[in-house]
Amino acid sequence: EPIMPPDLSKCHDANAPALDNHCCPPYSGSEKILEYDFPATPLRVRRPAHLVKDDQEYMDKYKEAVRRMKNLPADHPWNYKQQANIHCQYCNDAYYQQNTDDVPVQVHFSWIFLPWHRYYLHFYERILGKLIDDDTFTIPFWNWDTKDGMTFPAIFQDAASPLYDPKRDQRHVKDGKILDLKYAYTENTASDSEIIRENLCFIQKTFKHSLSLAELFMGDPVRAGEKEIQEANGQLEVIHNAAHMWVGEPDRYKENMGDFSTAARDSVFFCHHSNVDRMWDIYRNLRGNRVEFEDNDWLDSTFLFHDENEQLVKVKASQMLSRIYTHPCKCNRNVIRDCLNPTKLRYTFEQVPLPWLGKIN
Ligand code: C2O
Repeated sequence: EPIMPPDLSKCHDANAPALDNHCCPPYSGSEKILEYDFPATPLRVRRPAHLVKDDQEYMDKYKEAVRRMKNLPADHPWNYKQQANIHCQYCNDAYYQQNTDDVPVQVHFSWIFLPWHRYYLHFYERILGKLIDDDTFTIPFWNWDTKDGMTFPAIFQDAASPLYDPKRDQRHVKDGKILDLKYAYTENTASDSEIIRENLCFIQKTFKHSLSLAELFMGDPVRAGEKEIQEANGQLEVIHNAAHMWVGEPDRYKENMGDFSTAARDSVFFCHHSNVDRMWDIYRNLRGNRVEFEDNDWLDSTFLFHDENEQLVKVKASQMLSRIYTHPCKCNRNVIRDCLNPTKLRYTFEQVPLPWLGKIN
C-alpha cells in the first residue's frame, strides 16, 4: 500500500531538540481536504541563482515575496516559519502514519524523497507568487553542478535582505569557497579546481551508475506502515546532504541548514532543493521520460499541503508526472537529449550547460 498523509489532528512533539521539539502547525485536523487545482499559469522558468543576481527586477520581487511571507501572522499557514516547520513535521517524527502508533511519517531516505520535496517547493513557490500577485514567479536554483554555481549563492548573503540567514557556516558561505559535494564536516584541502573536478566527476558517476535503476538515484521503496531505513536513500539525496552540512553552522544543532528541523528556515534551502529537483528532471529526461517506478505504491503516495489558495489539498506522486502538452523541442541536443517536460505543475528549468554530462550513455 502507498504512503498516505497523516491525521493532522494528531501532531505531537517532534524529535527536534533545536526547536524544543515543537513544530506542530497551529491548525488542526478539522479543515476540509480538497483536490488540488493544478495551476493554469504560463510555463514558469526557474533560473540559476548565480545568474538572477543581476536581474534587479526579479530580485526585488523575490525579496518582497519573502519579506511578506515573514510578515504574515505567526499562525498563518503561509507564514515563513510555518512553511519551514512543515519540513520539521515530516522529517522529525511529529506525525505517525495512519493506523499506526509508532511509525513516523518520514519523507527522507526513500523513493518519496523527490516527489514530496517537489510538491513542498511547488507550494512554497506558488505562495510566494501569490503574495506579490505574480503568476509567473519562480524560485531560483543553486546551480552547484557547474563551476560558476559551486559557491554559496551571493543573493542569500546580503545581511539586510530577507533572504539572509545568520545561522550558517561563515567559513564556507563567505569568500567564494567551493562547495564540496562529499562534505561531511571535514574540510577538503584540495585546490579549488580539484574540488570542482571531483564534484563534476561525482555527479557524472552518480548518473551513470543509476540510470538504469531508479532506486539507486531516488531511493528504495517505502510503503504504508513501514519505517524508513536510512541506508535506503538514493545517491541524489546523499549528494544533497553534503550541501546541507556545508551550509549549516558546524556547532550544536547545525542550524539552520544542517538539521532537518530547521533547514527550511534558511531561504537557500528552497534554492538548493530546486537544483535537486532539477537533477531529477534531467535524470528523467536522460531516461526518455520513462516512469521511474511502475508501482502504484509509489505512484499513489499521497501528501497534504496548504496550497496558494489557502486550502488544504491532497496531491499524489503520479499527478506531478503527467504531461499536459508536448512542447516543441528547441534546446541544444548536444547539451541534453531532449527537452525537459513541463508537467501539470507548469514550471521548468532554464537550460544551462551540463559540464558533467560527458559520455553518460
Ligand atoms: Cu528534506 Cu534537503 O531535505
